[in-house]
Amino acid sequence: MLSKTIEEKLQSQIHKEASSSQLYLAMACWADVKGFPGVANFLYTHSDEEREHMLKLIKFVNERGGHATVPSLESPAKNFDSLASVFKSILEHEILVTESINDIITDCLKENDHTTNNFMQWYISEQMEEESLARSIIDKLEMIGSDTSSLYLFDKELATGHEAH
Ligand code: FEO
Repeated sequence: MLSKTIEEKLQSQIHKEASSSQLYLAMACWADVKGFPGVANFLYTHSDEEREHMLKLIKFVNERGGHATVPSLESPAKNFDSLASVFKSILEHEILVTESINDIITDCLKENDHTTNNFMQWYISEQMEEESLARSIIDKLEMIGSDTSSLYLFDKELATGHEAH
């Protein structure tokens, strides 16, 4: 059975995962119309993954005696400055998500909630992967700069999922 505190924290995490999904969907749309189909494909998939993260939490809350609320969401930004700024925003966003997951685990430890702690460990590994993937993409984009033929190849590479996990 979930405590009120843990249920509220998980509910707030549900909101964050749903917001991530919306944000990455908006970024995918931007990349799509700006002529980066590979990046768009990568971001559409990333958006789907975030929805899966949300769903996993919703099901966990409901299975553990809570009752998840489906969050209402604000519309994310429509335009972004550049590919580099998109991936920098993703990294910043994921760092905040990691902090919030760590915070849930701290509460689980305080309350001896080993079940939720154990469940949240999956998210810890996922965050490590997502942060390191965003960092490696940012590094690559910094090397490429504004070289259009390299950007074209970078886009193709993301399309084939070489960077994705
Ligand atoms: Fe579900 Fe990217 O954190």
